[in-house]
Amino acid sequence: MLVRVDFNVPIKDGRIQDDTRIREALPTIQELVGRGARVILMTHLGRPDGQVDEAARTTPLAARLGELLGRPVKHVDGCVGPVVEAAVGAMRDGDIVMLENVRFHPGETKNDSGFARQLASIGDLYVNDAFGTAHRAHASTAGIAQFLPAVAGLLMEREIKTLGRIMTDPPHPLVAIIGGSKISTKIGVLKSLLQRVDRLCIGGAMACTFLKAKGLQMGRSLVEDDQLLDVGPMTVERFLQTCDGAAAVVWNGPLGVYEVPPFDRGTDTLAEGLAGSDAETIIGGGDLVAALSKQHLAERMSFVSTGGGATLEFLEGKRLPGIAALLDKNHA
Ligand code: 3PG
Repeated sequence: MLVRVDFNVPIKDGRIQDDTRIREALPTIQELVGRGARVILMTHLGRPDGQVDEAARTTPLAARLGELLGRPVKHVDGCVGPVVEAAVGAMRDGDIVMLENVRFHPGETKNDSGFARQLASIGDLYVNDAFGTAHRAHASTAGIAQFLPAVAGLLMEREIKTLGRIMTDPPHPLVAIIGGSKISTKIGVLKSLLQRVDRLCIGGAMACTFLKAKGLQMGRSLVEDDQLLDVGPMTVERFLQTCDGAAAVVWNGPLGVYEVPPFDRGTDTLAEGLAGSDAETIIGGGDLVAALSKQHLAERMSFVSTGGGATLEFLEGKRLPGIAALLDKNHA
């Protein structure tokens, strides 16, 4: 089984900072191994631009996965070619192999069909569990599906089901909270969610754009480093009141500069309030997930999406190439 995962996790000085994406892929890998499959894992890490980058090797990912599974995960120094063929040829049922970063190969991001064919040649079936990369039409996420039967993994299925329900059959009352700094990256999501939600809260620096559009004087607030770095307690209270009685809350983007205390307070206080509510809480976006993970608040939410850009594009209603290529896209 050739399994595409998204193990694009933050790594500093060779140490994994957050292994959420690796943990979330465990059910698929365990299921396959339990059924005696030979599992070949593929992922990208960072943006090495078609060249070998020592800091972006998948070696620490294989090691961490091995720790989590409690069984060896063999790292292979390449993603195609004789070294890979030899390693795959030596596999036994239930073995796990992790290939080197697929983005070390220039054909990956170009969705080169020759490269996709080479990848496909080492497996019989293809499983895509990389929801976080589903918005990329790359060789290991989309092109490969031309050469092998392609199906969704369990994480991919869970993401599509949870986020898909918001799009097609949203529970009501539905509240959306959209934060973050750049409105340009969120405008599509706002337009899409506006058709589905009963109430909408806007926080983060992008709220200033709306306030300005309403005629308020914003001064130089967006550029003054010591101003406007978080929502205040009254705003958090108002957001929580808005969520009162909601069936579900979809939240994307932090409300302040959460990396710098105390400007994480607004995001944390809102999360604590939501964690104690009856609403189904659906969280998305890399920054917000990082913010909530710091305070162990992520695990108190109903669903935390592993996607950043992919989640945004899904909620915008865009077609994601990594999903469109799957045989079971309508059943996942
Ligand atoms: C992500 O972290 O959002 C995904 O792994 C995709 O990474 P990319 O933006 O480098 O394609």
